[in-house]
Amino acid sequence: MTTEELSPDFPEYDSQTAEVWDTLAGWWDDKIGDGNEFQDYLIEPATERLLALKPDEMVLDIACGAGRFARRIAVLGARIVAIDHSEMFIRQARERYTKNAERITYRVLSAIDPEALLSLGEKRFDAAVCTMALMDMSSIEPLISTLPKLLKNGGRFVFSVLHPAFNSGATRLVAEEFDTGDKLVFRAGVTVTDYAEPFHHMGVGIPGQPMPQHYFHRPISLLFNTCFKQGFVLDGIEEPTFPDDVELKSGMPLSFGNMRAIPPVLVARMVLK
Ligand SMILES: C[S@@+](CC[C@H](N)C(=O)[O-])C[C@H]1O[C@@H](n2cnc3c(N)ncnc32)[C@H](O)[C@@H]1O
Repeated sequence: MTTEELSPDFPEYDSQTAEVWDTLAGWWDDKIGDGNEFQDYLIEPATERLLALKPDEMVLDIACGAGRFARRIAVLGARIVAIDHSEMFIRQARERYTKNAERITYRVLSAIDPEALLSLGEKRFDAAVCTMALMDMSSIEPLISTLPKLLKNGGRFVFSVLHPAFNSGATRLVAEEFDTGDKLVFRAGVTVTDYAEPFHHMGVGIPGQPMPQHYFHRPISLLFNTCFKQGFVLDGIEEPTFPDDVELKSGMPLSFGNMRAIPPVLVARMVLK
């Protein structure tokens, strides 16, 4: 099947995901609101490089969660409207301190509601950013088709997702140990059993989380083609891996820290033609 024939959207789940995130918000923010190794080494540096902010730019932070990334870029000099469909996450975000609080406006708003998105202001934003959330969104076409109206001409859209090829609901982390004749070698990697078509699954983003969340797998071509159809061009991409010289706290044998040649996330910059 070609990407042309596939839909990136799962409208049957549109009304189900906010409730899960409301339940997870407090736990999630306690756990990773002050950062974790994925955010610190992979997601945030790559996103900031691709965003390449200029002082005082107006940024839309889509699915902002408890606002960690919004607070980071407020410190870098951006002005931000940060939206999330979870009231509880927005409450968490408002309660967190930042010295540039006046630069951030938080709104409870679903990114799959084009009318609500347009109420934020047409041609208002220099850039839009969506960190680690498109794979949590049941439908992405409503957002991506509205972004050209929200962004100024030439505006950019930077997003990060779990890597659809190496880190989805159809990948398994595997390890093997073998004897080369003079030493024992331990090697970890990934097996993939499903990729080419979109699928929904429930999963656990952070070990121990109180309930599973919805995930929506989309192959890279579908993700990018959804943007291309709306007039975006791909203008930057990173597949960050953990640096060789960094010792990670997690230390589990089956973790991406032990697979430093495999990128667990993909970060892309789309620009309006
Ligand atoms: C894994 S969290 C990421 C949060 C934040 N961007 C970060 O990087 O920490 C996914 C977020 O997507 C939000 N989300 C999912 N579907 C959404 C939708 N339709 N509209 C707005 N937010 C949504 C969830 O409420 C949650 O805050």
